[in-house]
Amino acid sequence: MENIILEEENGIAKICINRPKALNALNTQTLKELGEVISEISERKDIHAVIITGSGQKSFVAGADITEMKNKTAIQGREMAILAQKVFSNIENMPQVVIAAVNGYALGGGCELSMACDIRLASSNAKFGQPEVSLGIIPGFAGTQRLPRLVGKGIAKELIFSTDKIDAQEAYRIGLVNKVYEQDELMQQAVSLAKKIMKNGIYAVSLAKSSINNGLNMDTESAYAFEADLFGLCFSTEDQTEGMTAFVEKRKSSFKGC
Ligand code: CAA
Repeated sequence: MENIILEEENGIAKICINRPKALNALNTQTLKELGEVISEISERKDIHAVIITGSGQKSFVAGADITEMKNKTAIQGREMAILAQKVFSNIENMPQVVIAAVNGYALGGGCELSMACDIRLASSNAKFGQPEVSLGIIPGFAGTQRLPRLVGKGIAKELIFSTDKIDAQEAYRIGLVNKVYEQDELMQQAVSLAKKIMKNGIYAVSLAKSSINNGLNMDTESAYAFEADLFGLCFSTEDQTEGMTAFVEKRKSSFKGC
């Protein structure tokens, strides 16, 4: 891979977007590589959590690559949006938990990438924004859809229409990020959160993720029914037997993830 670095450690995959000269901007090549790595990891039973970050200390991802986009035709623009939307949906729907470690600029496609992750942790120097309309385009990597779902329609419209860049504390205040850390602590905190999650019944975590993601796209009654089905499914797992037995026997549970 040219622009993606993949590291694995103790069941955690770290994906680093690595185009530092362009502040890790997403060109088509990088989107394709990201897509490949996501498909591969999604199939891996030995990987239970994923952390996505950007290389360097300045930028997570500074958006889609403007130099590449500049001369695109309408059809090519649409194709790029569809490619990125597909890759980001695949991230959102990975069976594993995905944490964005936002280590600097998360603008345009960078903010959109972070929003496809389950949880966003930011460094104190991180800056978020959707500057697309200042370039004469709209957020096209699902930003017009995920941002209002995360922070509400009014704030999403203000951010997208004004192109304001907000700092990590403001992103925390509006619910765009879960936690803010100093830059030198960010990765360690992301790993520690991943490990904390992985101590639980990881299959149940995956089902909870599916219930939240799918349920939010259904009407309420269908979402309740879907949740009840997944709740029932948990009772077919060894982890449910172990978790409840451990509670009754007043000992720590030892989960197998199945
Ligand atoms: N695409 C291509 N190259 C980019 C880039 C981008 N999105 N962002 C930064 N770069 C490049 C710069 O062109 C520059 O390259 P050179 O050294 O070859 O000139 C290099 O990265 C460093 O950037 P700056 O010199 O601009 O660094 P800075 O510290 O002065 O500013 C910044 C940093 C505020 C992030 C600024 O680079 C910037 O505004 N970048 C563009 C952000 C943006 O508009 N993103 C949205 C893109 S559109 C989009 O994402 C559409 C969508 O919905 C997906």
